[in-house]
Amino acid sequence: MRPSEYTAALIQVLRAEPDRVRGCSALEMGSGSGVVLAALGALGATPLCGIDIEGAAVDAGARLLGDLGQAATAEFLRGDKWQPVAGRRFDLIVANLPHFPLERPDLPGRLPTWSAGGADGRLLLDPFLAGLGGHLTPDGRAVITHNGFVGIGRSRELLAPQGLNLRLVDSTLVYIPAEKLERMAAAVLLAETDRTIHCYGPYAFGEMHIVEISRGGAVI
Ligand SMILES: C[S@@+](CC[C@H](N)C(=O)[O-])C[C@H]1O[C@@H](n2cnc3c(N)ncnc32)[C@H](O)[C@@H]1O
Repeated sequence: MRPSEYTAALIQVLRAEPDRVRGCSALEMGSGSGVVLAALGALGATPLCGIDIEGAAVDAGARLLGDLGQAATAEFLRGDKWQPVAGRRFDLIVANLPHFPLERPDLPGRLPTWSAGGADGRLLLDPFLAGLGGHLTPDGRAVITHNGFVGIGRSRELLAPQGLNLRLVDSTLVYIPAEKLERMAAAVLLAETDRTIHCYGPYAFGEMHIVEISRGGAVI
């Protein structure tokens, strides 16, 4: 459940605008360690809800929020994607989903569900985006991590029919360690090298964005 630089970048963006977090009901899909919800709770978001497919993550999140004195306003639900919160809406939805295009999900030191997003990286991202409009309050927004090499354009296409717009809030390069690079889907690596993936000898970096998604005036 060790947080990554993706999580760090997400927390940094959320912390930059505390007024847009305070008082918000917040959901994290794929809550892992629970640290993003802990950061949101520290900024005054309430209540807090975390979903994760892994029992160990649900336990870790509940333990962390309990240790931080936020147990009364935090719930952690075990389940797949939107299923545990069917019919519920939130002011703020955050996610650092597994969306790395991996041919083999056996990354050392990580559960297979931590990073692997299928051959194109979009195995979880697509259903998350497809269901997003039905879980945001009218003025709600989502803030998520988004690898450049899985296609920002495709995400915009999924959001447009829901009246949702995507804007880049922050962009950074993340180091792709050798064990991840050697398992990366070859088609994505080939197509994205020198576009959103930059290699210098054995060292590779991928473009990663923090994106905000909200309604552009349309009512769903
Ligand atoms: C990259 S980790 C993010 C963790 C968290 N942001 C953190 O820093 O600790 C992705 C998380 O998504 C969870 N996950 C994977 N597949 C899922 C699914 N189908 N539904 C819900 N959560 C899922 C994993 O168990 C993992 O905890």
